[in-house]
Parts: sequence; structure tokens; C-alpha cells
Amino acid sequence: MAVGVIVSTGGGKQHPGKMTPFVFLTCLVASSGGLIFGYDIGISGGVTSMDSFLSRFFPSVYKQQMADSSTNQYCKFDSLLLTLFTSSLYVAALLSSFLASTAVPVYLSEMAPAFLRGTLNIGFQLMITVGILAANLINYGTASIKGGWGWRVSLGLAAVPALIITIGSLVLPDTPNSLIERGHDEEAKAMLSKIRGTEDIRAEYDDLVAASDEAKSVHHPWSNILQRKYRPQLTMAILIPCFQQLTGINVIMFYAPVLFKTIGFGSEASLASAVITGTVIVLGTFVSIATVDKLGRRALFLQGGTQMLISQLVVGTLIALKFGISGAATDVSKNYASIIVLFICFFVAAFAWSWGPLGWLVPSEIFPLEIRSAGQSINVSVNMFFTFFIAQVFLTALCHLKFGLFYVFAGWVAIMTAFIAFFLPETKSVPIEEMVLVWRKHWFWSKFISDEDVHVGNPEAADDRFKDA
Ligand code: BGC
Repeated sequence: MAVGVIVSTGGGKQHPGKMTPFVFLTCLVASSGGLIFGYDIGISGGVTSMDSFLSRFFPSVYKQQMADSSTNQYCKFDSLLLTLFTSSLYVAALLSSFLASTAVPVYLSEMAPAFLRGTLNIGFQLMITVGILAANLINYGTASIKGGWGWRVSLGLAAVPALIITIGSLVLPDTPNSLIERGHDEEAKAMLSKIRGTEDIRAEYDDLVAASDEAKSVHHPWSNILQRKYRPQLTMAILIPCFQQLTGINVIMFYAPVLFKTIGFGSEASLASAVITGTVIVLGTFVSIATVDKLGRRALFLQGGTQMLISQLVVGTLIALKFGISGAATDVSKNYASIIVLFICFFVAAFAWSWGPLGWLVPSEIFPLEIRSAGQSINVSVNMFFTFFIAQVFLTALCHLKFGLFYVFAGWVAIMTAFIAFFLPETKSVPIEEMVLVWRKHWFWSKFISDEDVHVGNPEAADDRFKDA
């Protein structure tokens, strides 16, 4: 525990600063890390729905999905090997996230002024969705390449977003937090002043130094995060990414073309429908960007959760009415299938302004510096584990649970929405260094935090630091 740090009883104070072109550009470049993630998410489902790819690598699935619609449609694509093609990427991501703590959302939250943190952080999610849409469009284009080698182009083009983030990471500056942590105090002040567009950075700098001092007194962030006073952050680091994946979003993002083929669309229409869901997710993300720092995180979570719940119940019911338990359906009209797509779009839109961006934003803004890398590693690893899990089990689960799978996801959405209502306090506009006050005031989490655990600001030390500035 830090000694001699003054306890502030206030909270939610605003540090001076504005949106500068420099901070905007920096966050834009950092966000481009989302492109490669999104491209990978969007590309595999389209590729695995292409006949030329299936017949070459998964001949048994190819035969199975060519069977006519009087057979069980739910099991058309059920193949562990096929799902491994999609899910294996996330095992790799899981392992690397332990080393990299995944850097982008935390970088954005450290760079952004508190009152714009939501908007700038969601740049990452926006890039994920742009990557998904780009993949959907490319699949739509390459599927029609004569000779059946379009899937090679789809997979090969992943090199483009990889190149963008590689170049971006070479030009990105360090955050003030990281400069302070490594002892570059003058550079940290200069950077803070540059990104906030003001010389009046004393109070914020002071908070960052206090947070850094406290972090330095902690030698084992991994065991530290297990302390009782970090129980709220640890709980969120595990449950938020887990819940984000249990919404079932990646059933649509990974397997939209496969799902659309399952409900009777042809190859081209399936890929076109994936372009529609990809467009909806990009547009929905803008809603979040525009509202997250005004309406707050909770309002978006609660509205989005309710809309996702309703949409999933309707999609499950529409599929049940047509395909029943047997999974055989010979008369799915275009209109009927389009209504299913419409409700899938309602679901995707709601995710796009709630659990999608907030699933990254909230964990990135709640960890104090001393547990930030451990907390963020847990958050990303749990996310990747459940991404892997859903990717791996979806096609088999669809085969066994049939339309009931959509009700299972609806049940999870009900649970997570109730969880947010009771356990997630509003974090909008609160400086990260003062976030502890939010937990301290919460009806449930306050039990885990005593007044001694609240160290915010260190005015005495600040006087020394700024004497010569
Ligand atoms: C999630 C991904 C999802 C994407 C969809 C992200 O926030 O982590 O799993 O595919 O949103 O836009």
C-alpha cells in the first residue's frame, strides 16, 4: 500500500483538455489494430461457404451441404474440422494476449481525455467492424472469380491490415502513463500537454504520477489482482468478455453465410446477406460513438441487451416455425427468409452499439495502473477463449439444439443485462485514476473497498514536480 498519499473524498473531477488533431490522429492509427482482428473474423465464414474451397478441403461437408432441403438443414455444416479452421485463429490470439496484454484499447483509454474516452476508444471497435465488412465484400467479390481460386485472394488479403498495423505501431508515440512509468517525467509532461492541447496539465499529471507511484509499490500484479480490493475489476475482467461472446454475435459474424445457406439461401445470396449484416454493424457502431459519452455506458448496455434479447427470441421462433425439430423445410419463401435476416440485423445493430464496443471500452477504463496489464491480459484472454469456444461449438450446437440454440443465447443475454443493471456502475467521464471512487460508492462493491484503499491525487508531491516547470 502506498504511504503518504492524500485521500480524496471527491470524485468525477474533470481535467482541462480538448480533442486535439494530434490525439485524434494518434487514436486513429492505434485503432487500425482492429482491422486485422475484424478481417479475420469476417473472412472465414465466407470462405467456408464457397463450394470450391469446401470441395477441395472438406469434401464430406461439401457433399453433406449439397443434399436437398428435405433433409435435416441444421446439421448441413456440422464438422469439427471445419470449425477448427475458424476457431484455431483465436487459440493463437489467446496465447499472445498473455504476452501483449493487448495493447490497443488500453492505449486509447490512456491517450484520450476522460470526457471523450468512450468515443475515441470505440475507434477500435469501429475498425473491427470495418475489417469485418471489408472481408464480407471481398468474399462476395472473390466468390465469383472463375476457376474457383477466389478463396486464395480472400485469405491472402489479410496481409493488408497486418501491414497497416505494423507500420502504425512504428510511428505511434508513448502514452504519458507509460513515459512516467519508465521515469521520463519531462517527456511525459510534454506529451500530456500536446495531447490535451493545454499547458494546464498539472492536476492530471499529478494523478498520473500518484497512480504510477502506487503501481511501483506493487511487485506482483498477477497475484495483486486477486486482492479483495480489486474484486470488482477482476469480476468485470472475466465476466464482461465472457458475456460479450455469449451474446452469440460471432455465430453471425463467423458463420453468417453458412447460416444463411442453412435457411435456404443460395451461395451468392448468402454472401450478399453477410454484406448486409456487415454494413449494419458498422453503422450501429457510429450510434455508439455519438452517444457513449453522453448517455453513458449503462444506458447503451441496457437498451442493447433488451433489443438483442427480443431479436433472438424472434429469430429462434421463426426458425422453429419453418424448420421445426426435424430441420427439413421445402418451402422457405424469399420473404420469410428476408424477415429472419431483418431480425438478425436488429440483433447485430443492438450489439454494435452496446456489447461490441463496451466489451472493450469498460474493461480498458476500470483498471488502476498497478493491475492494468494483468487485468487487460485476463480480459483479452477470456474474450479469445470464448471466441474460440463459440466458433468451435456453434455448428455442432446448431445440429443438436436446433432453433433452441437461439433461445440459449437469449437466456444468456437476459442474465448479462440483469448483471449490468445491478453490478456495473456508470464509468462515463470519470478519470481512470479516480475510478476507485465509483466502486467505493456502489451499493455492492463498496463492501470490498475501505477508505484506506482510496488513494487519489498527491498535491504535495505535485508542488515539487511543477516547481521548475
Ligand atoms: C468482438 C468480436 C466480434 C466483433 C463484432 C467485437 O467487439 O470482440 O468477437 O466479432 O465485436 O463486431
